[in-house]
Amino acid sequence: MNPQKRAIAKFKETIWDYYEKNGRHSLPWRKTRDPYEILVSEIMLQQTQVSRVTTKWSDFLAKFPTAAALADASVPDVLKMWQGLGYNRRALNLKRAAETVMRDFGGKFPKMADELESLSGIGQSTRGAIMAFAFGLPTPFIETNIRAIYIHHFFGDSTRIHDRDLMPLIEETLDQKNPRDWYYALMDYGVHLKQTLPNPSRKSAHHARQSSFKGSNREVRSRILKLVLAKTQAGAAAPTRAEIIAHIGKTEHDVDKNIDSLVKEGFMDEPIRA
Ligand code: ADE
Repeated sequence: MNPQKRAIAKFKETIWDYYEKNGRHSLPWRKTRDPYEILVSEIMLQQTQVSRVTTKWSDFLAKFPTAAALADASVPDVLKMWQGLGYNRRALNLKRAAETVMRDFGGKFPKMADELESLSGIGQSTRGAIMAFAFGLPTPFIETNIRAIYIHHFFGDSTRIHDRDLMPLIEETLDQKNPRDWYYALMDYGVHLKQTLPNPSRKSAHHARQSSFKGSNREVRSRILKLVLAKTQAGAAAPTRAEIIAHIGKTEHDVDKNIDSLVKEGFMDEPIRA
């Protein structure tokens, strides 16, 4: 066996061995093969911790059990179910993806990579995850835990490592017969590495720190939306612009521009001026 082949065989053994002993086999979204349910879990897991997603995922599916139900739901109802997960744009994208599945694919999730990627909010990693977890189709993809693993195992002390340098290794190590468990195993091992090594993603050329929430436009947007949803769900009239501005306590200009973008992007209706 040449050294590269040996390194790859040893790597696979490490990952499978870890999974057998420590795999998170009871995560609820690992018990389904329904592409819609898997999509919801993957979108939630992108930026939210597993512990928080566990209950949110079941609640969301209880309310919107199918792509058809989500496509038919109102935006405020969907945003309400999303509360606590953050990054609300994901909820809108999910709803739009469900609408496209209903309208353009007759209610059946597409299996082809390019069709999946044409759905709102689905990039290469979510597409690859759905293909593996729902359809058992082996395609190489990169997400943050996977990136950390390949850098750590195959790139020694190098820095500024590009995803394009990782892809051939991901492809070569991919288990063609069981991509579903292989990717679960990688994700679990990645979490383990992140807990044991000092920031294993720092050597990636794509490494970016999440920007601070406090004081950001993201925070202002989130507070505006929370206020609007709380009022309208309580059966009260939607707040006026002036009420929103007074509640948020930022300059009128800051609040105004964030209201405008929330309206434009479809998160809420235009508030009346008063
Ligand atoms: N299981 C399936 N997908 C996952 C993900 N994105 N993160 C953690 N566990 C998962």
